[in-house]
Amino acid sequence: MKVCSAAGCDVGMDVDLQELTIVHYPDPCLRKVCEPITRFDDDLAAFAARMIELMHAGKGVGLAAPQVGILKRLFVMNATGEEGDDCVFVNPEIHDMRGNKEAEEGCLSIPEVYVQVRRALRCRIVGQNLAGEPVEVDLEELPARICQHETDHLNGVLILDRMGPGDRIKVRKRLRELEAAYKSRGSR
Ligand code: CO
Repeated sequence: MKVCSAAGCDVGMDVDLQELTIVHYPDPCLRKVCEPITRFDDDLAAFAARMIELMHAGKGVGLAAPQVGILKRLFVMNATGEEGDDCVFVNPEIHDMRGNKEAEEGCLSIPEVYVQVRRALRCRIVGQNLAGEPVEVDLEELPARICQHETDHLNGVLILDRMGPGDRIKVRKRLRELEAAYKSRGSR
Protein backbone atom coordinates (compact mmCIF):
# COMPACT_ATOMS: atom_id res chain seq x y z
CA MET A 1 0.00 0.00 0.00
CA LYS A 2 1.33 3.39 -0.92
CA VAL A 3 -0.54 5.73 1.35
CA CYS A 4 1.08 8.83 -0.11
CA SER A 5 -0.52 8.27 -3.51
CA ALA A 6 -3.80 9.48 -2.03
CA ALA A 7 -2.37 12.95 -1.57
CA GLY A 8 -5.59 14.26 -0.06
CA CYS A 9 -6.10 11.28 2.20
CA ASP A 10 -7.35 11.92 5.69
CA VAL A 11 -6.15 9.89 8.65
CA GLY A 12 -8.57 7.02 9.12
CA MET A 13 -9.62 6.82 5.49
CA ASP A 14 -8.38 3.69 3.76
CA VAL A 15 -5.43 3.46 6.10
CA ASP A 16 -4.60 0.17 7.79
CA LEU A 17 -2.61 1.35 10.82
CA GLN A 18 -0.77 -1.94 11.13
CA GLU A 19 0.45 -1.59 7.55
CA LEU A 20 2.00 1.80 8.17
CA THR A 21 5.78 1.73 8.03
CA ILE A 22 8.47 4.39 8.05
CA VAL A 23 9.34 5.58 4.56
CA HIS A 24 12.94 6.29 3.70
CA TYR A 25 14.71 9.00 1.72
CA PRO A 26 14.16 9.72 -1.19
CA ASP A 27 10.46 8.86 -0.86
CA PRO A 28 8.52 11.85 -2.25
CA CYS A 29 6.24 11.87 0.83
CA LEU A 30 9.17 13.42 2.70
CA ARG A 31 9.15 16.47 0.41
CA LYS A 32 5.51 17.47 0.66
CA VAL A 33 4.01 20.33 2.63
CA CYS A 34 1.45 18.62 4.87
CA GLU A 35 -2.19 19.60 5.34
CA PRO A 36 -3.63 20.85 8.65
CA ILE A 37 -5.67 18.38 10.69
CA THR A 38 -9.29 19.39 11.11
CA ARG A 39 -10.94 16.25 12.49
CA PHE A 40 -10.11 15.33 16.09
CA ASP A 41 -11.65 11.89 16.45
CA ASP A 42 -10.85 8.32 17.49
CA ASP A 43 -9.15 7.66 14.16
CA LEU A 44 -6.71 10.47 14.87
CA ALA A 45 -5.97 9.13 18.35
CA ALA A 46 -5.42 5.61 16.96
CA PHE A 47 -3.11 7.01 14.31
CA ALA A 48 -1.07 8.91 16.92
CA ALA A 49 -0.80 5.76 19.06
CA ARG A 50 0.53 3.83 16.06
CA MET A 51 3.02 6.63 15.36
CA ILE A 52 4.29 6.40 18.95
CA GLU A 53 4.66 2.64 18.55
CA LEU A 54 6.66 3.07 15.33
CA MET A 55 8.84 5.78 16.91
CA HIS A 56 9.78 3.49 19.80
CA ALA A 57 10.27 0.48 17.51
CA GLY A 58 12.74 2.58 15.51
CA LYS A 59 14.43 3.82 18.70
CA GLY A 60 13.72 7.39 17.64
CA VAL A 61 12.93 10.47 19.70
CA GLY A 62 10.41 11.86 17.22
CA LEU A 63 8.34 10.88 14.20
CA ALA A 64 6.24 13.03 11.86
CA ALA A 65 3.18 11.85 9.93
CA PRO A 66 4.73 12.25 6.45
CA GLN A 67 7.41 9.77 7.56
CA VAL A 68 4.71 7.10 7.48
CA GLY A 69 3.17 8.43 4.27
CA ILE A 70 0.40 10.49 5.85
CA LEU A 71 0.58 14.07 4.64
CA LYS A 72 -0.95 15.68 7.72
CA ARG A 73 0.43 18.10 10.30
CA LEU A 74 1.05 15.85 13.30
CA PHE A 75 4.16 14.58 15.02
CA VAL A 76 4.98 12.52 18.08
CA MET A 77 8.03 12.84 20.27
CA ASN A 78 9.66 11.42 23.35
CA ALA A 79 12.88 13.13 24.37
CA THR A 80 13.76 10.68 27.17
CA GLY A 81 12.56 7.28 25.94
CA GLU A 82 10.47 6.92 29.11
CA GLU A 83 6.94 5.65 28.56
CA GLY A 84 5.27 8.58 30.32
CA ASP A 85 7.06 11.15 28.15
CA ASP A 86 5.27 10.45 24.86
CA CYS A 87 3.87 13.67 23.38
CA VAL A 88 1.67 14.37 20.37
CA PHE A 89 1.51 17.76 18.63
CA VAL A 90 -1.15 18.56 16.05
CA ASN A 91 -0.86 21.53 13.67
CA PRO A 92 2.32 22.71 15.43
CA GLU A 93 4.05 26.02 14.80
CA ILE A 94 7.43 27.07 16.13
CA HIS A 95 7.65 30.56 17.60
CA ASP A 96 10.11 32.69 19.55
CA MET A 97 13.27 30.91 18.49
CA ARG A 98 16.17 32.05 20.68
CA GLY A 99 19.85 31.27 20.82
CA ASN A 100 21.44 28.64 18.66
CA LYS A 101 23.46 25.50 18.98
CA GLU A 102 24.91 22.95 16.61
CA ALA A 103 24.43 19.25 17.41
CA GLU A 104 24.32 15.90 15.68
CA GLU A 105 20.98 14.72 14.37
CA GLY A 106 19.72 11.59 12.70
CA CYS A 107 16.35 10.81 11.17
CA LEU A 108 14.35 7.57 11.08
CA SER A 109 13.72 8.23 7.38
CA ILE A 110 17.44 8.57 6.58
CA PRO A 111 18.98 5.55 8.34
CA GLU A 112 22.69 5.65 9.21
CA VAL A 113 23.03 9.34 8.34
CA TYR A 114 24.12 11.64 11.17
CA VAL A 115 24.92 15.27 10.51
CA GLN A 116 25.49 18.48 12.43
CA VAL A 117 22.50 20.80 12.40
CA ARG A 118 22.34 24.32 13.85
CA ARG A 119 19.02 25.07 15.51
CA ALA A 120 17.51 27.48 17.98
CA LEU A 121 18.36 26.50 21.54
CA ARG A 122 14.97 27.60 22.84
CA CYS A 123 11.58 27.93 21.19
CA ARG A 124 7.88 27.89 21.87
CA ILE A 125 5.66 25.34 20.20
CA VAL A 126 2.07 26.37 19.59
CA GLY A 127 -0.45 23.85 18.34
CA GLN A 128 -3.21 21.49 19.40
CA ASN A 129 -3.52 18.22 21.28
CA LEU A 130 -5.49 15.15 20.15
CA ALA A 131 -8.70 16.69 21.50
CA GLY A 132 -8.16 19.78 19.37
CA GLU A 133 -7.45 21.94 22.42
CA PRO A 134 -4.79 24.65 22.11
CA VAL A 135 -1.35 23.76 23.46
CA GLU A 136 1.58 26.09 24.02
CA VAL A 137 4.88 24.88 25.48
CA ASP A 138 8.26 26.57 25.98
CA LEU A 139 11.11 24.22 25.21
CA GLU A 140 14.88 24.19 25.31
CA GLU A 141 17.77 21.91 24.43
CA LEU A 142 16.78 18.45 23.11
CA PRO A 143 12.98 18.83 23.17
CA ALA A 144 13.33 22.17 21.35
CA ARG A 145 15.58 20.52 18.78
CA ILE A 146 13.19 17.61 18.24
CA CYS A 147 10.21 19.94 17.77
CA GLN A 148 12.12 21.97 15.17
CA HIS A 149 13.23 18.80 13.34
CA GLU A 150 9.71 17.32 13.30
CA THR A 151 8.02 20.59 12.30
CA ASP A 152 10.51 20.77 9.42
CA HIS A 153 9.18 17.37 8.28
CA LEU A 154 5.66 18.83 8.04
CA ASN A 155 7.03 21.36 5.56
CA GLY A 156 9.00 18.83 3.51
CA VAL A 157 12.32 19.93 5.01
CA LEU A 158 14.99 17.35 5.97
CA ILE A 159 18.26 17.52 7.89
CA LEU A 160 19.90 17.15 4.46
CA ASP A 161 18.73 20.70 3.75
CA ARG A 162 20.34 22.03 6.92
CA MET A 163 23.70 20.26 6.99
CA GLY A 164 27.01 21.93 6.18
CA PRO A 165 29.25 21.30 3.16
CA GLY A 166 31.52 18.90 5.09
CA ASP A 167 28.63 16.65 6.05
CA ARG A 168 27.28 16.88 2.53
CA ILE A 169 30.41 15.19 1.26
CA LYS A 170 30.50 12.73 4.16
CA VAL A 171 26.98 11.38 3.56
CA ARG A 172 26.99 11.44 -0.24
CA LYS A 173 27.78 7.73 -0.61
CA ARG A 174 25.12 6.67 1.89
CA LEU A 175 22.49 8.84 0.15
CA ARG A 176 23.32 7.19 -3.17
CA GLU A 177 22.79 3.79 -1.49
CA LEU A 178 19.40 4.89 -0.16
CA GLU A 179 18.44 6.24 -3.59
CA ALA A 180 19.40 2.90 -5.19
CA ALA A 181 17.47 0.96 -2.54
CA TYR A 182 14.40 3.11 -3.11
CA LYS A 183 14.62 2.62 -6.86
CA SER A 184 15.01 -1.14 -6.56
CA ARG A 185 11.95 -1.38 -4.31
CA GLY A 186 9.87 0.25 -7.03
CA SER A 187 6.95 2.08 -5.51
CA ARG A 188 8.16 1.29 -1.95
CO1 CO B 1 13.36 13.05 10.88
